[in-house]
Amino acid sequence: MSETASAASKKLHIKTYGCQMNVYDSERMADLLRPLGYAVSDQAEGADLVLLNTCHIREKAAEKVYSEIGRLKVMRQEKEARGEGRMTIAVAGCVAQAEGEEIMNRAPAVDLVVGPQAYHQLPELIARTTRAKGERLKADFAPEDKFDALSTERQVSGPTAFLTVQEGCDKFCTFCVVPYTRGAEWSRPVASILEEARSLASKGVREITLLGQNVNAYNGLEVDGQESTLPRLMQALSEIEGLDRIRYTTSHPNDMTDELIRAHAENPAVMPYLHLPVQSGSDKILRAMNRKHGRQAYIELIARLKAAVPNIALSGDFIVGFPGETDKDFEETMDLIRTVGYASAFSFKYSKRPGTPAAAMPGQVDEAVADARLQALQALINEQAQAFKASLVGQTIDVLFEKPGRYGQQAVGRSPWLHAVFAEDAAHLIGQIVPVKIVGVGNNSLIGELEKVHA
Ligand code: 5AD
Ligand code: SF4
Repeated sequence: MSETASAASKKLHIKTYGCQMNVYDSERMADLLRPLGYAVSDQAEGADLVLLNTCHIREKAAEKVYSEIGRLKVMRQEKEARGEGRMTIAVAGCVAQAEGEEIMNRAPAVDLVVGPQAYHQLPELIARTTRAKGERLKADFAPEDKFDALSTERQVSGPTAFLTVQEGCDKFCTFCVVPYTRGAEWSRPVASILEEARSLASKGVREITLLGQNVNAYNGLEVDGQESTLPRLMQALSEIEGLDRIRYTTSHPNDMTDELIRAHAENPAVMPYLHLPVQSGSDKILRAMNRKHGRQAYIELIARLKAAVPNIALSGDFIVGFPGETDKDFEETMDLIRTVGYASAFSFKYSKRPGTPAAAMPGQVDEAVADARLQALQALINEQAQAFKASLVGQTIDVLFEKPGRYGQQAVGRSPWLHAVFAEDAAHLIGQIVPVKIVGVGNNSLIGELEKVHA
């Protein structure tokens, strides 16, 4: 995101924590502030405005924000001592939403607190805080206002991009803060998404990832007032010239309709990859988590997916050490992982979040036990991820080259299953989708060779 700052421009540093939706929001905040003369810098040092776009999902994520504010306070003093003017410190994102008052009290250095639904107000809020020194502001609003206020014109930084189509969650898993920080499920209208996607495609974007906390529950309105669905939205997006690949994340098993499964089989732009968190393999724990589905239903859903889309790769999220989780419950999770088979997964130790029902549940699990379970689970997922990569060796797959590699004319791209693929002499192919022969496996990547015709 770095840009050359003209002498007259102000320096903006954005630090993004957490999920891909925060990455999207940070890009949009940069878009909003650019017309005010703010150019993005990857250094906090000397910045006129620092925006911390925060995550509240786990305890550690929130704590990191407070220590970062401490570091920024020192940089602000140094900047002022150099006679370079004041550094404005703003906290955005989910910690801002959940702990706005607390931030104001605990961190007096913060000038501005702005929730994820209110950041379209940033230009005005910043003007106010910088005009009236010492005025501290806090803002939160509804998402409709935000998307109406944001331009659908996007700056891009390569051939892949995120595009938020849905926000919020009505599922209320008992461990999760998202329904409180991001609010109720809400889908953007189709027309505004298509407009933003056209802007991205016209600037060379070939792959978009549609974002939403519950993206497969997407039901935004068509121009005629009818409710759309995610597969229908993806059909319309795939008709845009240049948009060859579509992904979406994150999905809930209960919103995985037959129509959506068919889209994977029938729409070639929809990538054969699905992030479908299950969290646990134990029915007892799934019930305590209020996941609203059982183990068998998830396994059967995966079987239907694999039958319809034989080359689909799966990813998931897992929580170990949820209150009441016994060795037997954990073994059921491991067994589910063996049954399903994952190409990748995120796994976390349960983190007690204030205000969520699970925080008050009996049977909180010992830290050391949770650590051991996490390690065992990650080892199993790693094994499966490595085996999947090894199965691709010798095959020729389509790779979208994204950016320069580590040296020379090397470039790094993406496989249909989201692996990074390194290939020599491919720098001239950045922005293109090209067949690549897989010849080796790295730790987190694949090694590819170009077919002669492209080399
Ligand atoms: N503790 C640990 N992990 C959590 N997640 C959400 N809330 C918590 C929590 N309190 C995980 C879930 C979710 C992912 C985004 O983060 O696995 O799918
Ligand atoms: Fe959180 Fe559950 Fe909603 Fe996902 S589905 S955002 S885990 S409440």
